[in-house]
Amino acid sequence: MKIAVSGKGGVGKTTISAGLVEFLADKGYHVYAVDADPDVSLGTVLGLPEEELAAQQPIVDMREIIANKTGGKGAFFSLNPDVEDLLDEYIVKHGNIHFLKMGAVKQGGSSCYCRENSVLNAMVGSLFLKRNEAVLMDMGAGIEHLTRGTAKGVDLMLVVTEPSKVSVQTSKVVQGLAAELGVSNVKIIGNKIRNDKEKEFLYNHFSKEDIIGVIEFNEAILDKAMGLEVPEPKTLNHSISVIGNQILERVGEK
Ligand SMILES: Nc1ncnc2c1ncn2[C@@H]1O[C@H](COP(=O)(O)OP(=O)(O)O)[C@@H](O)[C@H]1O
Ligand SMILES: [Mg+2]
Repeated sequence: MKIAVSGKGGVGKTTISAGLVEFLADKGYHVYAVDADPDVSLGTVLGLPEEELAAQQPIVDMREIIANKTGGKGAFFSLNPDVEDLLDEYIVKHGNIHFLKMGAVKQGGSSCYCRENSVLNAMVGSLFLKRNEAVLMDMGAGIEHLTRGTAKGVDLMLVVTEPSKVSVQTSKVVQGLAAELGVSNVKIIGNKIRNDKEKEFLYNHFSKEDIIGVIEFNEAILDKAMGLEVPEPKTLNHSISVIGNQILERVGEK
């Protein structure tokens, strides 16, 4: 199962990605959590050790390295625990969670993220997964990097949306683009919902079937983001598991 999380900057992609990674890992999936958004580290929000994250190499370099180590057989396309032993520097492991970072640093003089895009497309399009494996990618808004062929490899594109006109507009663009690229399943997650008025606003802009779930605005998430010791934000965990179960129902077998 391959899930991509997209939406405007700041809407909560990384927060929700981390929640879903933990949900799937708890359900027994081997989850490849991919940070493809250069903004904020998914690894940090997942609570992975900072020293390991700092030493972690980006997966843009991985393809060449695996090709060398496996005599060019392209084991990248079946990333799995056997191959992972070759890839210690690239994967920060924590239980069932295998965290990889894309590393979107433009090369000097280069005007595009060409290598990043080709690795991203390989992850989405050609990575073979076993039944109990899942890939979850925190994408950033830029799904235009996916090509038509590989976007079909995304089983579910989640578009995180705040109750604001601007966020709805971005989400509609992403929704349209995803459909155009051939992603069969595109769903909206409403986030930072404070009241019924805001919930209604979302349901006025998207069809009921398009919205896979909503998550309330939660002060505890902000406190946690500041690094304060707070009890686990229970309502977030609850909303995430409602959405997670919906996801498993829709694409759990893939
Ligand atoms: N449901 C929520 N309630 C309150 N704050 C939230 C919620 N979801 C996310 N946030 C906060 O909003 C900010 C942006 O979230 P983040 O996940 O980094 O967004 P993105 O990855 O889309 O840029 C962070 O400070 C995060 O803690
Ligand atoms: Mg982010």
